[in-house]
Order: sequence, then C-alpha cells, then structure tokens
Amino acid sequence: MLPPLPLKPRIRESFDRAARSYDAAAILQRRVCEDLLAAWTPDAPPDSILDAGCGTGHGIRLLHRRWPDARLTALDFAPAMLELARQNPALCVAGDLEALPCRAASFAAWISSLTIQWCDTGQVFREAWRVLRPGGYLATSTLGPDTFRELRAAFAGIDSYRHTLAFSDPAAVEQALRNAGFTDIVLRRRSVRLHYPDLRTLLHAVKAIGANSVGDGARAGLFGKRAWQQVQAAYEGHRTPAGLPAHYDVIFAYARK
Ligand SMILES: C[S@@+](CC[C@H](N)C(=O)[O-])C[C@H]1O[C@@H](n2cnc3c(N)ncnc32)[C@H](O)[C@@H]1O
Repeated sequence: MLPPLPLKPRIRESFDRAARSYDAAAILQRRVCEDLLAAWTPDAPPDSILDAGCGTGHGIRLLHRRWPDARLTALDFAPAMLELARQNPALCVAGDLEALPCRAASFAAWISSLTIQWCDTGQVFREAWRVLRPGGYLATSTLGPDTFRELRAAFAGIDSYRHTLAFSDPAAVEQALRNAGFTDIVLRRRSVRLHYPDLRTLLHAVKAIGANSVGDGARAGLFGKRAWQQVQAAYEGHRTPAGLPAHYDVIFAYARK
C-alpha cells in the first residue's frame, strides 16, 4: 500500500502555477509522450481520443499530426494549463481524471502521459473504462519506484522527510488495469536519465513543471544551510561527465476495453 498522495487542491495549484514555465522545462514529459504515442499502433485510426491530463497540449499536437480527422478532447484540472491547451485543435474540458465529465462509451481511445502518478490509479482506470467504447484503446505512461533514486539517496541520512511522490510498480499498474476490466494489457519499462549542472537547477526544473508536491511527510519549514550543503555534497557523489543525473523509471501501459 502506497502512502497517501498530496491533497488534490495542492496538486492542482502547483500545476496551475507552473503552466507558463511548463513547456520550457518539460523535456522528459515531451520525450515520454512522444515515445508513448510512437509505440501505440491501433488496428484502425481512432476517430475520437481523450487526452486526460493534457497539460499545455503536447499530446494533442502529436495526435492531431498523426490523425488529423480524429475528434480530440483535451482534459485537465489546472485552469492555466487548459488555457494554453486551447491553442490546439481540440475541445478543451476542465475536469478530473478520477471523475470524468464525459458520457459513457464516448471515445475510441483514452490516452494520458505522466499524469496518473498524481491520482488514484484504480479510480482513473475505472473512469477510462467507462468512457471508452467496447474495443476502445488505452495508452498511458507513468513513473515507477526507481524515479529520483539519486535524490532519495542524497537525502537519506540527512533528514527523514519525504522528497518524492511514492510511485507504483509495474505489477500494481497492471493489476489496476485488470481490476478495471481491461484486456490485452502490454507493459514496457524504460529508464531515462537527464543531466543537470547542479542540484539547484534540478530542483528548479521539477518545480517549473509543477511536480513539486509530495504529500504527507514533506518538509514544512526552510532547509538549513548546513543540511543543504550536506545534500549537495551527497548528490555530487553521483556526478558524471554529463552533469548531475536524475533517473526516471518510466512505465508505459497499453490495453483495450
Ligand atoms: C506532468 S503534467 C503532464 C501533461 C501532459 N500530459 C504532458 O505530457 O506534457 C500532468 C498534468 O496532469 C494534470 N493533472 C494531474 N492530476 C489530475 C487530475 N486528477 N485530473 C485532471 N488533471 C490532472 C496537471 O494539471 C498537469 O497538467
């Protein structure tokens, strides 16, 4: 059982505040979304697709390029993200992945890139199943437990606060899909490493996309200078010629209703 997620208003607020800085910082998110969609090969072009947790609309642009005739719906709960997504050829809808404001069986495909790690995965998949037509496709990416392992290692022994979300493992993602009623489930796991010049830049990059809420157990007060220096020194132990690495354990899942 994973520890509780951050409260929803807190998650929404972080993403809302980050909307303007998102595109410049979302290097991993763009790469993962492109990988998710490139590896997705439905039997026939889907005529209607929901991008659940669309952010500023990168997924929508990719979908439109691939299937210009598909009816695209972009959904997000952060108003400022949705405002930017409106520049794309999609119907933009404010809503929650866990309680979609959509009719049952109204889409041929449901996609979601790097969003479900912020949600109750079981509830998200039940909702995806509900809004998909029989035979409809699901394609999603999320983060696995090895994500930010260097960051956790650097903080270990310095404090006992939580510094990252608790990420689901692939078996839990697969079970949640099965429990929701999905079939033809295929999972893929890929390790992606990004490099940053220093720890401050790395943490700013996480904040710039809005992914800085971690939930219960986060440090509430300021970080002391000595503790900060200790964390920096510990992280420096991971430095490579390319810079300070941040590891992302990316899980891709594909399924059908
Ligand atoms: C990391 S961003 C990913 C955005 C986009 N899919 C991409 O690949 O660039 C996560 C997005 O999911 C949205 N989000 C998170 N939880 C959500 C929920 N329960 N309902 C709707 N949107 C949610 C956030 O507002 C944010 O825009």
